[in-house]
Amino acid sequence: MQFQVNAAQLQNELDKLATYSDVPSPAVTRIVYSDADLAARRYVKQLCRDARLEVREDAAGNTFARWIGDAPGLPAIGTGSHIDAIPNAGMYDGTVGVLGGLEAIRALQRAGFRPRRSIELLIFTAEEPTRFGIGCPGSRLLAGLLGESDGTRLRDSQGRTLDELRTAAGFSGPLSSVALVPGCYAGFVELHIEQGPLLERAGIPCGIVTHIAAPASLNITIEGEGGHAGGVLMPGRHDAFCAAAELALAVEAAAKSTGAIDTVATIGICEVFPGAVNSIPSRVRLTLDVRDTEAARRDSVLSSIRKASESIAENRGVRIQSDLVNSDAPAACDARLIETLSRACEAQGLSYQRMVSRAYHDSLFMARLAPVAMIFIPCRAGVSHRPDEYASPRAIANGVRVLAETLAELSAG
Ligand code: HGY
Ligand code: MN
Ligand code: MN
Repeated sequence: MQFQVNAAQLQNELDKLATYSDVPSPAVTRIVYSDADLAARRYVKQLCRDARLEVREDAAGNTFARWIGDAPGLPAIGTGSHIDAIPNAGMYDGTVGVLGGLEAIRALQRAGFRPRRSIELLIFTAEEPTRFGIGCPGSRLLAGLLGESDGTRLRDSQGRTLDELRTAAGFSGPLSSVALVPGCYAGFVELHIEQGPLLERAGIPCGIVTHIAAPASLNITIEGEGGHAGGVLMPGRHDAFCAAAELALAVEAAAKSTGAIDTVATIGICEVFPGAVNSIPSRVRLTLDVRDTEAARRDSVLSSIRKASESIAENRGVRIQSDLVNSDAPAACDARLIETLSRACEAQGLSYQRMVSRAYHDSLFMARLAPVAMIFIPCRAGVSHRPDEYASPRAIANGVRVLAETLAELSAG
């Protein structure tokens, strides 16, 4: 199909969106329900209204911008991603799928295309785990995996609940009203930067995702005895940080022991208490993130880590408590959508490769509601979740062209 992507306008909009941040450029910090997040939402919603899309928000702040099709009663075609950003992140993670999805719709509008099925752009209220410790709260709520009771269960580091924060941000109504009915979309396609180096290394402009790796995450608390750094001799210590250090190396060994390149494990947060130069750590809080494209292999790693924890606790005389935050099934992308994306790349004269997504995305949970697929574009050196995250205007435009081609075909069906 013939249409034009306005790469310059899209880049300007990405640059403007990046200014809604709690840290100075080039870093972006945009935590869900923060003032920066609400300002960013206002900006994106206005762009959607300017494109004559019908905009609505649900009780959690998931935002929907619909291009009404000629057969509005049919299940729509969805696209979209997130605009929240972890602390000190970059400006392309998620936003390429939101503003790129909007530009794909505008390119079809400019070409005079008329969708039979409506096309709906989704901005998930949050994809990052920063605020509530669990990733994808927005799409989990849409998929019915989180509900009413989580409104008071999920809390941020200052003890504020999801209900308090969403209400203060202006989102009202019962959380139970957020869940969508499976089949509400005939398909969902998400455009995202790869957040890895494979496409750039291969010199290939498009990735078509076949599977999305499944995350499991835990909060781990290690309680030792602490004490005076001078007065307690080494044999008598129950040092919580040394136990944490040993556990961290056990986590790394467990991930490497599967022999599969798709198994990854990370301890991303380590808080030491009391955190004084001359006091032996008495308590350490860790977060653990374990992923794999195969749930059973991931769970075997969790089991190895659990055994290591028990032996470290016994040998060091500390107590180790692990609380599971989430353990999700991996998602397989839809074969028919993968074929549609392949044809779209070919129609746009773009080479592509099929690949796994090692990062999780909202598509992981949208897969509970509809057939899903993802388009990846290269990002420089595979860097993401850092201020130097970068995707070129050309790479983004390529992804938008494939998305527009795909939305045109799917919404005509
Ligand atoms: O952690 C992830 O995979 C995603 O970027 N939130
Ligand atoms: Mn991210
Ligand atoms: Mn993302």
